Amino acid sequence: MCGIVGMVNGHPVAVDLAAALGRLEYRGYDSAGVALAGPGLPVHRILGRATDLVPMLEAAQPRGRAGIGHTRWATHGRPDLRNAHPHTHGGVAVVHNGIIENHDALRRQLRDQGHHFASDTDSEVIPHLMAEAISQGLEPIEALLVTCRALEGAYAIAAVTEAEPDRILVARMGSPLVVARGEGMAAIASDPAALAGMAREYAPLAEGEIAELTGDGITFHPVRIQERRRQQRPVAQDRRAPRREWQTVADPMAAREDGRRFAHHTRREIAEQPEALAATDAALKGLALPPDVVACDRFTVIACGSSLFAGATAREAIERAAGVTVDLEIASEFRDRAAPPRGIAILISQSGETADTIAAMARFRAAGLSTIGMVNVRESVIGRTAELVWPISAGQEIGVAATKSFTAQLLALMRFGIALGEARGTGDAAFRTRLARALDDLPRICTEAEAMEPIARILAERIAGEEEALFIGRGWGAALAQEGALKLKELSYIRAEGYPSGELKHGPIAVIREGSPVIVCTPGDAGQAKVLANASAVAARGAHLVALTDVGGAEAAAATAAETITMPGDALVAPFAQAVFLQLLAYHTAVVLGHDVDRPRNLAKSVTVE
Ligand code: F6R
Repeated sequence: MCGIVGMVNGHPVAVDLAAALGRLEYRGYDSAGVALAGPGLPVHRILGRATDLVPMLEAAQPRGRAGIGHTRWATHGRPDLRNAHPHTHGGVAVVHNGIIENHDALRRQLRDQGHHFASDTDSEVIPHLMAEAISQGLEPIEALLVTCRALEGAYAIAAVTEAEPDRILVARMGSPLVVARGEGMAAIASDPAALAGMAREYAPLAEGEIAELTGDGITFHPVRIQERRRQQRPVAQDRRAPRREWQTVADPMAAREDGRRFAHHTRREIAEQPEALAATDAALKGLALPPDVVACDRFTVIACGSSLFAGATAREAIERAAGVTVDLEIASEFRDRAAPPRGIAILISQSGETADTIAAMARFRAAGLSTIGMVNVRESVIGRTAELVWPISAGQEIGVAATKSFTAQLLALMRFGIALGEARGTGDAAFRTRLARALDDLPRICTEAEAMEPIARILAERIAGEEEALFIGRGWGAALAQEGALKLKELSYIRAEGYPSGELKHGPIAVIREGSPVIVCTPGDAGQAKVLANASAVAARGAHLVALTDVGGAEAAAATAAETITMPGDALVAPFAQAVFLQLLAYHTAVVLGHDVDRPRNLAKSVTVE
């Protein structure tokens, strides 16, 4: 997805820019770079992490007082230095986050005008277009407006020029961008957290808005990119400015109210689950389901990765609570299927920007069918375009691995099942009542689950010495097993597999050898006997079984497993309690192995490519 920053403050800004970029590394860390306005338009780029730019810039001491920076997750063009931002041409340097869909056509047009390109990126057309417009007599801000009007796709853009050493130009359409200000300074960032300790307050740049930043403040252009109006001159004062709500720039790593500080965003976000769940419940309270949703008895959950596993984990509960059928589709597969979509789609996505999920959503829309978006980011594509938004309010998630968003998705899905069953008058009413009551208690359950951290740490130390791990379960436990395996492999790089325990005998049991670690997600309800029967078959072949269960299931689990970990709460909330434990297990395994927990290799927080 990439992250961008910009800063102007009357002093050399390069090192501050690199430090701010370091806080955006969760958005991509293939390459990083900064460009400084003014004579020579110096550019410093590296392959790898933005944090490594800091010593490089401390040594180089570039003097620019206005600058822009970028941290990249490669989409168009390999992650190599020539594709690293900023891109420059004709005295203009640009950083871009988003995708320029018509970049091929623009490149052809620019090539015909004699332009040569130095990279394979879609973004490089932007400085070329701006330089072309400036060469025809437009001011840089006018050139940015004209350029944006030629672009199709999504973008947040920041530009500096050789001619204007104390000015940054910015534009936004479809990708996040905030403007910020402080004492004698102005800044921009994809995420305000990047500016903690540097800027005082921030406000989002509106969709289609263009602005100029100097040490004296921020000037918003009166004309929006979408408006095909003749007037392109900037004015000193924004007369038609939207009411802007300035908010304090907060440091996400600051101590929490309970005085706790965390070494990683991922760990802090695991601890934030009680708040995330309470906020999600508050956001859902009073939301009504429209008539077409109430009339529907077949839903298709479409998602990727952890979001898909959240759908799979909650499926049973929705089907039972509402008496409807819930199908599951992997978005990257469903998007290319020939089968006609049926019923209503439930699109689960933390970011709301995942390209595969958006493409799958398009198939439902093309068939004239409704979509429900379960997103954490309301401003996202799915959040803005779904017919119904059934929101997740987990708060910003910075760690690349989904943690609090996963349990908040589970909660939102289960509440959806309850609301649907009530509105339709179908499903198991007694189950709905019990589930609703159990969900009310989730903040406490998750707090108690987090307190099991010492046990997770001990287990992690053992798992860290293994080359592989197997996670098994049945029903929701099978889905949670997949999520546990995903968490472990993405954070620790240990090969891990999550499997429905009933399927083991059809092949996977062949990998079991003496001492193989197998984690069993088992609830203390009627389903437990079958999981444990499958688990015994694995234990009989030498596997070391660790059972995750609840109070009702502890005794039976202990009779089968070498180790039993009893989580707080009953079987109804077991998916939540066990999810917290599995997150802690993956986190501590990665810490033991010395991995970068917040930024696992090869990954980015939102995957905006097919
Ligand atoms: C894993 C993880 C990913 C995401 C997946 C979908 O920890 O975070 O598997 O769940 O990339 O992302 P969203 O939910 O933003 O659509």
